[in-house]
Parts: sequence; structure tokens; C-alpha cells
Amino acid sequence: MKKFNVFIARKIPEAGIELLRKSGFNVEINDSEDRVLSKKQLIKKIKDKDALLSLLTDNIDKEVIEPNPKLKIISNYAVGFDNIDVKIATKRGIIVTNTPDVLTETVAEHTIALMLAAARRIVEADKFTRQGKYKAWSPFLFLGQDLKGKTLGILGLGRIGYEVAKRAAKGMEMKIIYNTRHRDKKFEGEYRARFADLPILLKESDFISIHLPLTPETKHMISKKEFNIMKKTAILINTARGPIVEEKALINALKNKKIFAAALDVFECEPEITCDFNSPIKLKDLNNTILTPHIASATIDTRIKMAVVAAKSIIDIANGRIPENIVNKDIKIRVN
Ligand code: GLV
Ligand code: GLV
Repeated sequence: MKKFNVFIARKIPEAGIELLRKSGFNVEINDSEDRVLSKKQLIKKIKDKDALLSLLTDNIDKEVIEPNPKLKIISNYAVGFDNIDVKIATKRGIIVTNTPDVLTETVAEHTIALMLAAARRIVEADKFTRQGKYKAWSPFLFLGQDLKGKTLGILGLGRIGYEVAKRAAKGMEMKIIYNTRHRDKKFEGEYRARFADLPILLKESDFISIHLPLTPETKHMISKKEFNIMKKTAILINTARGPIVEEKALINALKNKKIFAAALDVFECEPEITCDFNSPIKLKDLNNTILTPHIASATIDTRIKMAVVAAKSIIDIANGRIPENIVNKDIKIRVN
């Protein structure tokens, strides 16, 4: 096995770091108190490194990749990889890997938590209770929406979308409609799901949950026109990537009650919660939003598994093995 020089761009669970050290690698970790490195720092840190274990907060573009010809693998600690210019990496013979599978159910559970929280106005009601506003039981206090019998529209039937649909259909007794690139007849049979074009899905869904990768095609896929088709009672959930929804249109839809609520784990200009500092209304000013700070995969167990998977991909490359989760499958793997 080759002795790799590895850079880890942020502290991750020890299990992953340990695996790399046990392989005899020289491991350097960004020790800047859990902060994202600037591009300049990152470029400097990965000079002469064979492997980079990156986070979704690292923007790995041409400027980072090109001056580092020794780099053989970028192992991204996430299922999404829109933070990496995969085309450039492929051109340079650098393998890019991600951490799918281990986080699928965890993200699906967070999605269901957001659905329930938005439908039953849990966050708003909690705030009300803490503020001492609960004086007496009332027939009209915090009326929300049921899930049973309602229609969930799944955008993107990848592993995560599939697990959300399964839980919603079997657990909550919801009806499923979905839109995705490749229709899945077996899924349709198993969960009595119906495939629908996007406008139909938007029109018929009581809940709409996004499970797509961020690509030029999916950016701003949900915008003013799409909100105008949705039901007034619709609830939008996004645990995928912020820019898939055009934030300005979302704020307008929520403010003007064109939809009932939105529960978001991701934001268009993350970590900013509203892109436009001057916007008169921000997402956090609205009562009908639930906002979590990109934590859909954040359970103790899953984050450990992600660290192990990310480390194993690097070890595989050092051993001349093909890692399981290659993103750029068309790459010619380098042997030198
Ligand atoms: C989180 O957003 C991930 O892509 O893993
Ligand atoms: C990817 O996002 C997946 O659903 O596995």
C-alpha cells in the first residue's frame, strides 16, 4: 500500500481519522477551530497531498484542483457533491467519492420530522408556550394539517426520496406521487405511487419534498411559476440543496400565503438564511417556516459512518482498489 499524505478539511468523527492513521498515512487536519478554510488556505494545505477529505462547505473548483497535480482523490464527506468541479477533477484524473447509503434513512427521518413539525406547527407552538401565552385550551389553537390520506409529491426518487416515500406511505398512510428521471414501476406497485409531470405533481400535492441533486438543470426549479400552481394548503420541504428553490419566490409565496408553510434544512445562500440582506422580509421573520441548519444527516451514528466511508475510499485508492462510491465513474484511474 502506498503511504498517502492526506488532508482533512475539517474535524470529522475520530473513527475516520483513526482508520487513516492506522493505514500509516500522514494525516493533517484543519485545526482552525472547526472553521471552513479560505480557498487560499485550502490550496496551500493540499500542496503535495495525495488525498483530500473535503466537506460540503469546501468549494473545490479549478483554482483548487489545478495547482495540485499530486492529488489522486477527493473524498467528499457528504452525499451531495455540487461543491466540487467534478469535470475538472475527471480531466485531471482525480477520483471523486461521496458518502451515500449510510445517511439515507437518517436524512429521510429528518424529512419526516420536518413534515410533521410544519403540518402541526410544532416550532411556532413551542415558542408560544415558552412565551407564557398559553392561557386556556381552545378549539382553534394552532390548527394544522393531517398527513393521513394526503398526497406527498416526491421530487427525485433517489435513495433518500425512496425512503421518504416508504415512510410516508407505510407509516403515515399518505398517497405518493413522484417525478424523477427514471420511472420505477416496482416502486409504483409497492407503494401505490403514481408518476406525474412536474406541474401535475405541484398542483395535486399537499406536501412536496425535494430530493434532487443541485445541478444547472435543478437550480431554481421551484420558482414563482411553480408556487403559483401549488395548493394554498401545500407544505414544501427541502432537505436537498437550497438553490433548487428560488428563495425570493419562496418568501413571496409564504408571505402572501400562497402556500401553508415551508420546512427547510438548506438555504440558497447558506450559511446565510436569506440571501438578500436588504430584503424587507427574511425567512426567519415568517411564522410559517421551520429552519434547521443543514443537519438532516446529523446523527451521532451516521456521522461516524460517513467518516469511515470517506476514509475507506482514500485507503482503497492507496491500495489500488476501486472505491465503492465513485462519483466520476467515467474516469480513467491513475496507477502512478
Ligand atoms: C448533505 O447535505 C450531504 O450532501 O450529505
Ligand atoms: C442521493 O441523494 C440519494 O438519494 O441517495
